[in-house]
Amino acid sequence: MYKAFFKLARNPFDLTPDPTYFVSTRRHNEALAALHYGIRRHKGFVVVTGEVGTGKTLLLRCLLRLLKESKDISYAYLFNSRLTPTEFLQYIVADFGLPSSGKNKSELLLDLGQFLVSRGSKGLTTVLIVDEAHHLSEELLEEVRLLSNLETTDDKLLQIVLVGQPELDDKLDSIGLRQLKQRIALRAQLGPLDAEETREYIDHRLHVAGMEGDSKRIFPPDAVAAVYRHSRGFPRLINTICENALITAYARQIPTITADVIDDVAREFRLDREFSESAGSGTQNEMDVQRAAKVLRDLYSALRKPVARSAELNLPVSLEASEYEPNI
Ligand SMILES: Nc1ncnc2c1ncn2[C@@H]1O[C@H](COP(=O)(O)OP(=O)(O)OP(=O)(O)O)[C@@H](O)[C@H]1O
Ligand SMILES: [Mg+2]
Repeated sequence: MYKAFFKLARNPFDLTPDPTYFVSTRRHNEALAALHYGIRRHKGFVVVTGEVGTGKTLLLRCLLRLLKESKDISYAYLFNSRLTPTEFLQYIVADFGLPSSGKNKSELLLDLGQFLVSRGSKGLTTVLIVDEAHHLSEELLEEVRLLSNLETTDDKLLQIVLVGQPELDDKLDSIGLRQLKQRIALRAQLGPLDAEETREYIDHRLHVAGMEGDSKRIFPPDAVAAVYRHSRGFPRLINTICENALITAYARQIPTITADVIDDVAREFRLDREFSESAGSGTQNEMDVQRAAKVLRDLYSALRKPVARSAELNLPVSLEASEYEPNI
């Protein structure tokens, strides 16, 4: 409804992790490069962690787009990690396009092993990608480790990407999983954006949504500063605040969003209470991050929905990751 009013073709702050909106911040770029590099170079395990709403799923969708373009790569993408070991294997086997129904665990393992060996012998790359990996039980993480044992003398047959919230790091630190932890070849972390990245983020998303000219026309610097103050740079919170600011401004028929509008939206979402003590200081201390994470959890736990494989990607050309040795 507000699109015509602001002369936009699309909703700029939709919460769906849509790669066409990808903003290549330093951290997102490094994480994407680490994933791509780890898979391409057959490093085995790659782990990416980040707080709620920092762009992990979006990053994976960008990665899947890159992988899809490579004819020598096949992947299974798992986004519901609350499964039994047999369901887990069934899902992976089916996602690789192999028959899985009615098979028991050892049959599934045998099929998967043969599939990996056959692909490996042809020099092909096979990847297992798990989103929401912090939900994996220790039992399933142990299954994942066992899958990583499928290797020849000089190559790993299955590349494994685990992506999840920081609890994943805690799980991997546990004594029972130290063998798995030792196998992790590359790690990357996502976090909130800084003030300048928040400005670029808003600007980029508005332009992708069809805005012509300078984004200050809609979000002037004081409004952007208020968005940063209330969101602490967490992308999903930025989206919520900006989306609601557009709706509020439209209702008030004001074409340029003011800091007052942002403050009102933050109040509605009770974000002002969360950050009021440190607002304006510009620092991102640990407490801010934890509070923001809590706000996000409360706000969005109901909104999570599985992502259908068919709903994947439309990546901007700029995302063509090349051979890049991440410094991690
Ligand atoms: N670098 C980015 N560029 C553009 N949009 C981003 C970026 N990072 C995050 N977003 C947006 O922020 C929102 C949250 O991202 P996403 O769902 O990927 O977070 P997440 O880390 O997977 O969260 P959760 O832990 O809840 O699964 C999405 O709308 C996504 O498009
Ligand atoms: Mg996610």
